[in-house]
This record gives sequence, C-alpha cells and structure tokens, in this order.
Amino acid sequence: MTTTYSYDIPCTLGLESVLADELTALGGSDLQKRRGGVLCKGDKALGYRACLWLRSAIRVQQLLGEFEVREEKDLYKFVHAMPWEEWITPEDTLAVSATVRDSVFTHSGYVALTVKDAIVDRIRSKTGRRPSVDKRSPTLPLHIRLLKGKASLARDLAGESLHKRGYRPIQVKSPLNEATAAGLLLLAGYDGQGLLLDPMCGSGTFLVEAAWIAMNRAPGLDRRFAFTGWPDFEDDLWHNIVGDALDAVNTDVSARFLGLDHHAGALSLARQAVDASDTSDLVTLESGEAADWIAPQIPDWVFTNPPWGERLTEGVVESWTALGTFFRTCPGSNVHVLCGAPELTKHIGMKADKKWEVRSGPINCRLLRYEVRKKAAQG
Ligand SMILES: C[S@@+](CC[C@H](N)C(=O)[O-])C[C@H]1O[C@@H](n2cnc3c(N)ncnc32)[C@H](O)[C@@H]1O
Repeated sequence: MTTTYSYDIPCTLGLESVLADELTALGGSDLQKRRGGVLCKGDKALGYRACLWLRSAIRVQQLLGEFEVREEKDLYKFVHAMPWEEWITPEDTLAVSATVRDSVFTHSGYVALTVKDAIVDRIRSKTGRRPSVDKRSPTLPLHIRLLKGKASLARDLAGESLHKRGYRPIQVKSPLNEATAAGLLLLAGYDGQGLLLDPMCGSGTFLVEAAWIAMNRAPGLDRRFAFTGWPDFEDDLWHNIVGDALDAVNTDVSARFLGLDHHAGALSLARQAVDASDTSDLVTLESGEAADWIAPQIPDWVFTNPPWGERLTEGVVESWTALGTFFRTCPGSNVHVLCGAPELTKHIGMKADKKWEVRSGPINCRLLRYEVRKKAAQG
C-alpha cells in the first residue's frame, strides 16, 4: 500500500501560484496555498521529485506529526511518543529549527532544544546510544512550527536550501536567489522559446535559470539531498526518478541567451555559473554598457535585475536611464524588470503595463512588465 504524506513547501513571497502550478504538474494533490508556500499531499516519490524538479521552492518538508501544545510539558511528551527509530539511527546527526507564534512558548531556541532532547532520549532508551547534533550538515534536518496551540513537526528532504543548485561555486554578494529568478521567469509566463537577454546580467542567474527551463533540465540534478541518507530512503525509486530527469534534458533547443554587464567581476562569476551549469552552448556573455548595446536581433524576452541602491549606490540612476535607452531598441519584446526601489522606475521613461508583488531576500519588490511599442522605440 502506498503511504500518502503531507508536504509543506515554502517559496519566496509572491511565487505561491507558480509553486502550486509546479506541484500540480508533478502530481501533488489537495493543494492549499499559504503565505510563502504551498501545502499538498502525495507519496514518497512526490517528495523526491519535488526536490529534484521544483524551480521556485526553497525546501520540501514532509510532515511527521501534528499535535496540540497547551502547556510546556506537552511538547516533550508528544515528540517523545513519536516513532523516531523509523527516521533516525544513533549514528545519524540531527538539527532542529523552530518558529513560534502566539504559543505558551516564547523562545524558539528553547522549543528546538526540547524537541531535540525528546528525540535523543527516545533513541537512547530504544538502543542505548544517541544521535548527536550537527547544526551545519545534519543527516536529519527538522523544523517545528508552533502556532497558537498547534504544533507541526516536519523533516526537510532537501537539507540545504533548494536555491543552491550547485552551479555557483561561492556565495556572491548581491545575486538574485536562483529559486526566485526561476520563479519570476515562470510567473511572467516565460516559455523557453526564442532569444532572452539580460542587459545587466551580474552573475547570470536569469540566464542560467531560463536556459534550464528551455532545456527542461531539472534544477536539482547536480546536488545532494538530505533524504538520500535516511533509513527509509528508497534507492531504486530515486534512481528511476533521476534517470527519467536525465532522459528529459533536451540539449538540442533553439532558444538562446545573451547577457551583458559592465563589471568584469560580475561577468567572471556569470562565466563560472554558465560553465558549471552546462549551458555554455546556449548562453553568450558580453562586456559593455547597456545604453550602447545593440543586440544581434530583437529579443523575444528581456529579464533583468538592475541595481537599486541598497548595495550598489554609485550610478544607480544612470543604470536605470541606460536600461530605458536599451529597452527602446527592443520593440515588441516582452521586457521584465525586478525592482526593489519604486522611485527608480521613472528613469526608464516608460510605464509598466503589468506588476507583480514579490519578495527578493528581505526586500519587497515588484516585477514590472513593459510592452515596448514601436513609437517608444523611436522616441
Ligand atoms: C543587482 S546586479 C544583477 C544581479 C544579477 N541578476 C545576478 O544574477 O547576479 C546589477 C548588475 O547591473 C550591472 N550594471 C549596472 N549598470 C549597468 C550598465 N549601465 N551597463 C551594464 N551593466 C550595468 C552591474 O554591474 C551589476 O552586475
């Protein structure tokens, strides 16, 4: 008999509908959008596929238990009663994170500690030995949410955040998060066809994520997931899912991707990302000024994330003016700009015809769509 699990899958705020569509395509059922995520049901294979295939998700959490916490001692009692020996051995390591709101507990650190103690005590009482804590790279990452009197405890299938695809060797200063970039492309209806440009490509996140969408390449193919080290891991099932994903990659696509940046350091990061993501046949990078750039042909899509001042203060207004100049060379294109500072958009000199509210890291942003008309292109 196939077991049905409940999954809670977080994403960037504003991308819930994209994530819901992705989950529906993977076969998730009973979908329920929440703020910053989607809840759904599915079998073990759904969890594995979700880690491998979801572009807009941050993690994939499988619910292990839900219970009422009316007084402090309830938490230890319920967690201790759960069958942890199914999920962790004494040789494994664990880490517990917690979020707490309107609960008898006020301190999330104390909640996490109580959960850890209950699990460790249970395993010790069953085996005489205990698993240890590893906060950086645990075999079993757990998360508990306490909301009013209700607790839900889940294990995180991915381990490290799903935005870490494996093509970015170092954590660069102001890149667009990979999962957010992919989610924005899907939110705007990017279809993986034609020429896509990013005139301020930085480390190249839009380019690589768009190329992977065009190639139907699963974003998790190059990385490891926590669930592969769990006692109930099904090797054959995972092997088949990865095999199907490898077969699904289409390297013979006609879509092309072109990125420009005037900063040598940013371009060098983009080159590394393009090489590491196996997209160098599709993605071309150029050094130059956006205002002077004449693309080889009018693009079908433009996606860009210009500087908006928080980190890159000098020349920000000039960058937005340059963007407007470049956009006028792209009549008929589907142009999208991620903006975290509304006061800057006027420097583009065009009016957006569509806006989506999204979050990028801690910043409330908008994805703006511009329809570049022939008249604007001449003016
Ligand atoms: C916020 S970053 C882009 C981040 C990028 N989305 C990523 O994935 O890393 C903005 C980029 O715009 C570039 N830029 C700013 N003004 C420019 C201009 N006038 N011409 C070309 N590049 C420009 C900067 O060098 C910087 O790399």
